[in-house]
Amino acid sequence: MTPEATLGRFREYMVGPARFMTLLSCFELGIVDALREKPGMTAAELGAAVGAKPDAVEQLLFLLVKEGFVSHDEGSGAYALDALAGVPEGDLRRALTYMNMIKVVALRQLFYLTESVKTGSLVGLKELYGVSEGTLYGAVAEHKDLRESWATLMDNVTARIDPWFFGNIDIPAGTRVLDLAGNTGLGAIHTYQMKESPGLRVTTFDLPEKEKECLENFRAHGVDEHCSFIGGNVFDEIPKGFDTVLIKHFLDMFDKDDVFRILQGVNKSLEVGGQVNVMVPVYPENIQDTDNYNVDFFPAFFIGCTMAQGGPQKLSTYRAWLEECGFTVTKTITKDAAEIPQDVIPIPAILTATKTA
Ligand SMILES: C[S@@+](CC[C@H](N)C(=O)[O-])C[C@H]1O[C@@H](n2cnc3c(N)ncnc32)[C@H](O)[C@@H]1O
Repeated sequence: MTPEATLGRFREYMVGPARFMTLLSCFELGIVDALREKPGMTAAELGAAVGAKPDAVEQLLFLLVKEGFVSHDEGSGAYALDALAGVPEGDLRRALTYMNMIKVVALRQLFYLTESVKTGSLVGLKELYGVSEGTLYGAVAEHKDLRESWATLMDNVTARIDPWFFGNIDIPAGTRVLDLAGNTGLGAIHTYQMKESPGLRVTTFDLPEKEKECLENFRAHGVDEHCSFIGGNVFDEIPKGFDTVLIKHFLDMFDKDDVFRILQGVNKSLEVGGQVNVMVPVYPENIQDTDNYNVDFFPAFFIGCTMAQGGPQKLSTYRAWLEECGFTVTKTITKDAAEIPQDVIPIPAILTATKTA
């Protein structure tokens, strides 16, 4: 890359946060909804409709017009949805759920990324929420805004990707399944719904504070006879008595030493022949692959906002780590980037492995 091109890339980064908030504000203010309801409004009409000064509305809309998201008729001053009109509502909702999570859980916290890396602690959570110990996953129990934003996104991600996960793993009839770090039970509910068989039992294992909501979810989905919850910390002990352990969206939260502690703990909890199915975002083997945005997002997100450590690895790294922890990897599959909606960041892979040692 030439020095000029390098500087050009820097400029893209510089305008990133401002672009992000300009777009999101246009949704939050209700400008996009107002234009959907009544195309052809002027800045004055939009200002009156959303309760903001027309000059500010006009300023925000310059970017959306530049992008072609919104059109502007110079003569009449009328705005209308342009490219935005063609985006299906469900897709837009998915993208906005992600953007809301980025705003609430990431944007302010990342101001402290440098300090978080230096101290190995979540300086942003401490400065903004007074959380001096633990991770985002403890903080969501106390802070409603963090919980609502993060949990809504997490459930959306899980609901979208689980059919692919369960379509690519085998859970024989009557299996006793442990969904490790299974949050409030959605993965267990999906396991039962997508892999139902006589005698299938699914247990969610997560931090104890998830129990109440998890059991409520099981009842609400009518699976409480087949699903249960065990509260605990993966670093203390992983419950025994299971044939298959699911580890979805979890290993990427930790550095290598902790991933090894988790995998060795899972290994210890299983009998020889027991299975583990891991789903995790992966970096491409060629890190310069421009189709994969995991590297753009997850290092900063995990280190600065959620865990003060962690970040995804390449599929080959996870395979090697599983083998080093006493498993034989029997199958791997990476989601084709072309099959993932264009706004979605994580590109996951599945690794299936059997305990051999
Ligand atoms: C990114 S979420 C993944 C949730 C779920 N597996 C899914 O795919 O939807 C990570 C989960 O790990 C849980 N968690 C974090 N640290 C944990 C620990 N030390 N022991 C057990 N669970 C933990 C969090 O409470 C959270 O539910």
